[in-house]
Amino acid sequence: MKILTVGGGAREHAAVEALARANAEIFAVMKNSNPGIAKRAKDVLLASEDDIDKICDFAINNFVEYAFIGPEAPLSSGVVDALEHIGIKCASPTKDAARIETSKTFMRNLVDKYRIDGNLGYKSFDNEAEAIEYVKTVPYKVAIKPVGLTGGKGVKVQGDQLTNLDETIAYIKEIFEGNVGGGKVIIEEKAEGEEFTQMVFTNGDEIYPMPLVQDHKRAYEGDLGPNTGGMGSYSDANHLLPFVTEEDRQKSIEIVRAIVKALASEGCTYRGTMYGQFMLTKDGPKIIEINARFGDPEAMNVLTTLQTDFSEIIKWMAGGKLKDKDVKFANKATVCKYVVPRGYGVKSEAGHTISIDLDSIANTGSVAYFGNVDKNGGKLVTGTSRSIGIVGVGDTLEEAERNCEAGLCYVKCDAIAVRHDIGTAALIQKRIDHMKQIRGQ
Ligand code: AMP
Ligand code: GLY
Repeated sequence: MKILTVGGGAREHAAVEALARANAEIFAVMKNSNPGIAKRAKDVLLASEDDIDKICDFAINNFVEYAFIGPEAPLSSGVVDALEHIGIKCASPTKDAARIETSKTFMRNLVDKYRIDGNLGYKSFDNEAEAIEYVKTVPYKVAIKPVGLTGGKGVKVQGDQLTNLDETIAYIKEIFEGNVGGGKVIIEEKAEGEEFTQMVFTNGDEIYPMPLVQDHKRAYEGDLGPNTGGMGSYSDANHLLPFVTEEDRQKSIEIVRAIVKALASEGCTYRGTMYGQFMLTKDGPKIIEINARFGDPEAMNVLTTLQTDFSEIIKWMAGGKLKDKDVKFANKATVCKYVVPRGYGVKSEAGHTISIDLDSIANTGSVAYFGNVDKNGGKLVTGTSRSIGIVGVGDTLEEAERNCEAGLCYVKCDAIAVRHDIGTAALIQKRIDHMKQIRGQ
């Protein structure tokens, strides 16, 4: 299989490794020179990930048959539509279908229209004064979000980042006046509970669920500090999470399935990986957001344990048949911790030399995925986003966490940060206790 991949982060490196295991011939487009992706690719185009003309030319010149897009920005600028137009089969959604992520209002309205479970109270505004009037009287705590894309960093929640009404109003003004995420606001009911991620593969009709993963959005240990794209994540050997029951999981799968069906009914069939982020509340799973792609870091957890040939899944998502009629993941636990540039989440200190001893990591039970790093002369340097993901694998979460830490010892840089608490027994117990308290047990 000849496949075009778009994206230069650790999520895309994990996808490229899974494709390389399946003997795919990879042609990679990325904006930074990711050495992990470059090593597996037959050819690389260094370009902006939404430069449609360059991407299409690169695809045509290399006679690729399939394409897989990692990040949301190229999805929202219509890269898939352009590639499909020149006859390339895509395992990622079109611009219309990707609205499930690129417009939070579209997502909430769709869930409402098709009476799908898990919605929260919400109201969207394109007028600042009306939004401010509304927030003064809304009867519950709220989350304030720009309607469009913000790289996972545009949400502020009352009781978390927003401590009073004045701060809430100031943030609404900031979104409108700064034109953040398109300069429109959605005000959502705040859901209380524990978050988890349920991703699926879909061909627009059927779905195959992936193991559950829990991400950690806050920048600092103890779940403190600003929201980030995600500092690390874990998944368990039984594909559940220690605080999520099989029944909760089935409910979240049904919600994602219903969204896939609803998109097809709306005439924008969704192909690719779909990401459901849920808050497990006392009333079951509630939708926090739906993304039109793999989660990052969550992709590293699930692609490391994927047993089915990823190229077969790509072909199926892009409209073909699935040979095995099943998608399998190993019964292994994984813990992923991101090495990020110091200051990430506020103001990253980029451009520092970073080194990694891959031979030693290979003996630790962990795997390394390169993220937003770049080549500078012969050296590898950090960018402004997450640098390297280390995924520990084990039979238990404890073993996976230990292996992840063993791998992290072989990453060296003088300006990085890691949330070492991710996947530890103490933090997981905190999640379990929180969920018990929420359920009133
Ligand atoms: P998002 O970028 O939509 O993933 O939001 C970032 C973070 O804000 C999420 O991981 C949640 O922790 C929080 N959040 C977003 N929406 C809500 C909501 N409606 N209720 C509670 N927390 C939320
Ligand atoms: N891990 C959160 C995201 O990919 O949006």
